[in-house]
Amino acid sequence: MPFITRRDLLSSGLVLSASTLTARSAFARTATLLGNDLPEGSATALAAVAPREQLLFDFGWKFTFGNSDDPLKDLGFGYGQSDFSKTGDFNFAKAGFDDASWRVLNLPHDWAVELPFVHDDSGGDDNAMKSHGYKPVGRRYPETSVGWYRREFEIPPSDAGRRIWVEFDGAFRDVLVFVNGCFIGRNDNGYAPFRFDLTDFLAYGAKNYIVLRVDASFGDGWFYEGAGIYRHVWLTKMDAVHLGKWESVVRSTMSGGSASLDLSTVVRNQSQQAASARVSWKIVDAKGATVATAESPALSVAVDGSAAHHATATITNPVLWSTEEPNLYSAIVTVESDGQVRDAERVTFGIRTVLFDAEKGFFLNGQSLKIQGTCNHQDHAGVGAALPDAVQWFRLGVLREMGCNAVRTSHNMPTPEWVDGCDRMGLMMMCETRQMSSSPEGMQQLETMIKRYRNSPSIILWSIGNEEGQLQGPMAEQGARIAADMVRLCHELDPTRVVSAAVNGNNRQGVSDALDIIGFNYNLKLPDAFHQKYPKRPVYGSETSSAISTRGEYTTDPLRNTVNSYDGVVFWGETPEEWWTFYGTREWEAGGFAWTGFDYRGEPTPYGWPSINSQFGIVDMCGFPKDYFYYYRAWWRKEPSLHLFPHWNWSGREGDEIPVWVYSNLDEVELLVNGAATGRQKVPHLGHVQWKVKYEPGVIEARGFKDGTVVLTEKRETTGPTVTLRLTADRTEIHADGEDVAMLKVEVLDKEGRPVPIAGNAIAFTIAGPGKIIGVGNGNPNCLESDKEPRRSLFNGLAQVIVQSTKRPGEIHITAAKDGWDGPDLTSATLAITTKQVELRPAVPVVRES
Ligand code: GAL
Repeated sequence: MPFITRRDLLSSGLVLSASTLTARSAFARTATLLGNDLPEGSATALAAVAPREQLLFDFGWKFTFGNSDDPLKDLGFGYGQSDFSKTGDFNFAKAGFDDASWRVLNLPHDWAVELPFVHDDSGGDDNAMKSHGYKPVGRRYPETSVGWYRREFEIPPSDAGRRIWVEFDGAFRDVLVFVNGCFIGRNDNGYAPFRFDLTDFLAYGAKNYIVLRVDASFGDGWFYEGAGIYRHVWLTKMDAVHLGKWESVVRSTMSGGSASLDLSTVVRNQSQQAASARVSWKIVDAKGATVATAESPALSVAVDGSAAHHATATITNPVLWSTEEPNLYSAIVTVESDGQVRDAERVTFGIRTVLFDAEKGFFLNGQSLKIQGTCNHQDHAGVGAALPDAVQWFRLGVLREMGCNAVRTSHNMPTPEWVDGCDRMGLMMMCETRQMSSSPEGMQQLETMIKRYRNSPSIILWSIGNEEGQLQGPMAEQGARIAADMVRLCHELDPTRVVSAAVNGNNRQGVSDALDIIGFNYNLKLPDAFHQKYPKRPVYGSETSSAISTRGEYTTDPLRNTVNSYDGVVFWGETPEEWWTFYGTREWEAGGFAWTGFDYRGEPTPYGWPSINSQFGIVDMCGFPKDYFYYYRAWWRKEPSLHLFPHWNWSGREGDEIPVWVYSNLDEVELLVNGAATGRQKVPHLGHVQWKVKYEPGVIEARGFKDGTVVLTEKRETTGPTVTLRLTADRTEIHADGEDVAMLKVEVLDKEGRPVPIAGNAIAFTIAGPGKIIGVGNGNPNCLESDKEPRRSLFNGLAQVIVQSTKRPGEIHITAAKDGWDGPDLTSATLAITTKQVELRPAVPVVRES
């Protein structure tokens, strides 16, 4: 599989405008990474191979709201106290139940993002409504906090004797699962995957019914978390003699030019008789060529027992996984018994070495590398927490574009496709569990996370949690014990990686005692003193910055809830320049993770209503870059970079002094105002240059010099009024699989074809052909418009439309036009997206299509 490398993204070396450079490389990247290189299927780090079947169970569910207060509005569930008394009595999960009034939809689904915003500050300044993005979900909103999902599905007679599991990648939250009238089980937390063996409960050669009650009344975090089955669901069918879930592990050790592979797995026997089973491994490279094989001898497995299998193999001259070239291998693990292949799976892995050194920082494959990381929550404009896989990859592409080489999955176990995307696109990862606790629930979440992802080369460290003030302060003694248990579990399940936590404050006690490496959240005054006292303990910034800015805004205005894009930051945080000057210049610092890559719903700091999302993002909710993006791009990437801001549309402010800044990694930058040079400035290392310019309409231009020669220029021009709409997409050809999406950018141009950076026109969208609009956004943290209606106002010149294919190949036409009667006329724009036929990933046949 060809991978695009950072080198491929570089320009030809000619003098180019910086905006051309950005646009060109962004489109090259998304087209290549998200087009032909889309992984076949999902969650490929552990994927089914025949005879195992792993069927996508996302399409054609029915949904209705229940009620957390009134059982009569909750399918009668909990009316009286006898609900769990008899097995098989739940009629809503049987034939004959009337779900005709329920809505048909496909997963992933987040019902919270569909709800209107509600101004509810009754919980005080720190209330959960605000921190969760002002959606009416929680105990005070019984009518919109419980959702029921129902699905009919057939199981053929030939499945008799196989083990059949329903597997959820994650759902928010408090899930009860019923099948064919029987209660099957529950899952509380909103982030860890969970699964149930349905074998005994199914009807073979007949229709079956599955129902889920999902209750988002409680939250797991202090940020937007969505509501519903917001990740994929699978129906997995396997032989009674099969490989244990997430037990196949590949560990590599480099020595000389070879990689020794330590291969292990577990065979389980759920058949009626003892089995003798042997396991074989075939290691294939990205092109599918076999590079090594191994076998472990037959071992007997008792009924209901399991047996651990081990083997070793060697790959000579392996291609290593790195951030530049994320080369992957796969191990096809096969179990045979009685001369028959019983089960098989594909484990994707990469060969690389990782080292955190207390004096020299971080090393990948023996090369010193600073962690240029961002923390991210998991929601996106238009779709909330329910991201199609292609949106995950789009988001990673945006982060990579700015030079980010690592992500932290704050503060929860990530969606598999996010990890898979990091493996394939060459981003490293700090993978964090939700609950810092050695309770059974906390340990279960941690174990699931490590087993699920321990083959992923992107993961360089595990995090057992974030900012547990009690465990770090008043309960430091308990904190030390809890953390020690968690770290022990991590080491036992994965001796190859170090363990950390994101700690705010004193790292000399509490959970920190147990950690392999020390993460500091903020507090730039602390790491130096810590390093002096503990020179043998590796240190990095687990959470830094919390700079805030509103895209395209250049004043901080509490009346409009905007934050200026030059130097906005919360009192506990640091500007990009401040934190990176600190972490980027100390040899012993491994680097760090900025809070946050993307804006996210909730935590609308520093304001409250009507702000409904955070302003911490380096890019907004849609992924449109804010100016801070270009600071990172300049100092996190090697190639020449130049970004000039603000825009030059300041009508009414003629004669005012406007701060003009440039982020660049060139030697010097010269600013021209309407053609007149106003002076050249040397660019400080890891800094920026700035001027004050009296505003008059026209053009400002920055010229960047390297070794005395102009290598990049960028202009900001005063544009005329809005005249024409423009639609562009990250990809104009997508898969006709009912899952893939194109991310459309909406802009308005003046009569000379220049995007108008302050435009706020209201736009309506229509769609024809085999596709649907699944969400819209504009990145405005104060916008209360619907994410689901096919209309959106532009915010500072931009909006986003997410268009999803159906399974029918063809051409989708999306038209953007002026919405309503107000405002200037606009020439509409239409964009064609081709959806091409692809082999669909195996799925549970649909009874009803949404
Ligand atoms: C941190 C916390 C994050 C987020 C951030 C905002 O203390 O870990 O989740 O709340 O503050 O600055």
